[in-house]
Amino acid sequence: MRDVNEIEGVNRGLAIRIYLGGYSTLAYEGESVASVLFRSRITACSATPLEGLEPGYYCGMGICYECVVQVKGVGEVRACRTVVAKDMEVWVRS
Ligand code: FES
Repeated sequence: MRDVNEIEGVNRGLAIRIYLGGYSTLAYEGESVASVLFRSRITACSATPLEGLEPGYYCGMGICYECVVQVKGVGEVRACRTVVAKDMEVWVRS
């Protein structure tokens, strides 16, 4: 698979460090928390899945609330609508 930085016309923001469940990981300014979760292969976020669906990223536009995660100092946020910030601490509900 090609790295996104090798795709013409796609430019990532600056690399920053965030924490997922206490583990340090790389993120890029401007990307969503959901994007980092996906890249980290964390697909289950919510403790309350829509009936018949696995909990996690679903609509991708802030409607379903299936991607809710905890951000230290902020509280519950929708991962698909939240942009990463340097040293952000994200916790997935279980
Ligand atoms: S994926 Fe539906 S609100 Fe985030």
